[in-house]
Amino acid sequence: MNRKAESSSRKAKLPPAYRNSPTRTEAWSGPIERLAWGGMGVGRSEDGRLLLLEAPLALFPGEVVEAKVLWKARHGEGRVTRWLTRDPRRAAAACPVAEACGGCELWEAGSHGSELKRQMVADLLRRQLGEGVPWTWHPAPASARRHRIQLHWDGAALGYFQRHSHALVPVRACPAAADPLSEAIPRLQEALAGRALPARASRWELSTGTPAQTVWATDERGRTWQLEPDGWHRSTEPIPHQLGRTPLLHEPGAFFQVSPPWAAEAFGGLLSSWNLKGGTVYDLYGGVGLFSLLLDDRFQHRVLVESGEAAVAWARRNLEAAGLPSECLVADVAAWVPEGLGAAGDLILLDPPRAGLEPALCDRLGTAGARTLVLVGCDGAAFCRDLKRLGAAWDLDQLAVVDLFPLTSHVECVALMTRRP
Ligand SMILES: C[S@@+](CC[C@H](N)C(=O)[O-])C[C@H]1O[C@@H](n2cnc3c(N)ncnc32)[C@H](O)[C@@H]1O
Repeated sequence: MNRKAESSSRKAKLPPAYRNSPTRTEAWSGPIERLAWGGMGVGRSEDGRLLLLEAPLALFPGEVVEAKVLWKARHGEGRVTRWLTRDPRRAAAACPVAEACGGCELWEAGSHGSELKRQMVADLLRRQLGEGVPWTWHPAPASARRHRIQLHWDGAALGYFQRHSHALVPVRACPAAADPLSEAIPRLQEALAGRALPARASRWELSTGTPAQTVWATDERGRTWQLEPDGWHRSTEPIPHQLGRTPLLHEPGAFFQVSPPWAAEAFGGLLSSWNLKGGTVYDLYGGVGLFSLLLDDRFQHRVLVESGEAAVAWARRNLEAAGLPSECLVADVAAWVPEGLGAAGDLILLDPPRAGLEPALCDRLGTAGARTLVLVGCDGAAFCRDLKRLGAAWDLDQLAVVDLFPLTSHVECVALMTRRP
């Protein structure tokens, strides 16, 4: 069928009210029924079409709002422009640029942010995995702060990008970041304005270790400076983290958990409550070795696979320093995983980037010799898709969702699965 014929056959199947529905922006007002994945509020048109609404700084179910909506054939998408009723739990944002800045979405949810996120996750899991799949919710402690922030310099001001835009929102502090990082923002601004640091660089990452003390600034070329009382000094030092009894080093500017102490506490707690131990752990998408280190000596051996060469070099050093025998390999996980990976007492742990697992990799994992698998994912929708693909050969035993990214609508999902015989 050609595309035109396909489109008219699709239209013919639509209920009459939706046929020839124009695509146009309209004003809408009504109640928020519930929260959907990504923090969107769900409303409904008079003819029953679903409406997904975005709002800066949180929406509470039950609030009545006005919005600008772009109607599509089957649903509408829009942005809240005014609140007609506000939930009494709504709090004043503790950040002066909260409304414009694209870094946080839940400031006005105040102490109820965790509950709103739990509702968003419940909605996603119910739709993706069906009713009645048990899961646990792990709210962030009040102490969780970002140990890594990305700032932009436009030649005159330093700040974050506005929501959905590359327009700069200048900032002098960031209450979502660990104190030393927040306090380093004006120091970076001064150094860039005074040309003590290369002012041509437009993207800067500020990072700190655990506990949060020393601050590093890394430019878009990977050059790093350490902040000292008299200013910024070129540095080739790694960033140190002491996570419980686990020491770990990584390069500034490289991938690492945004809130390392909270991530280590949450992941470490789950791995030990699931009582994982045995022969070999395959730490796939292993980064600098966080999961292998958290599992400590509960496995006899570790094979870490990661595509970043520098990360693998740090993983080798981190695991060696912890006295944990391991092989650390630079490879693409999807190409590396063989048919029949592992033996009965082994664990396959996968922590892929946001896009999740390739379909062929899920199929190959279905032939694994290992009987236990842990899947970690920071994009809930991709994670559910992968759980369903893996479900052909693996049973879901435990599902935990962790609020690793407070003040945003992002979460980390962790599943424990057992291979069906
Ligand atoms: C979400 S991070 C997890 C890192 C580590 N598990 C941690 O918690 O610190 C994903 C990691 O996968 C690596 N990566 C991305 N694509 C990859 C691929 N195709 N094969 C192997 N590693 C990959 C990235 O470099 C990154 O270190």
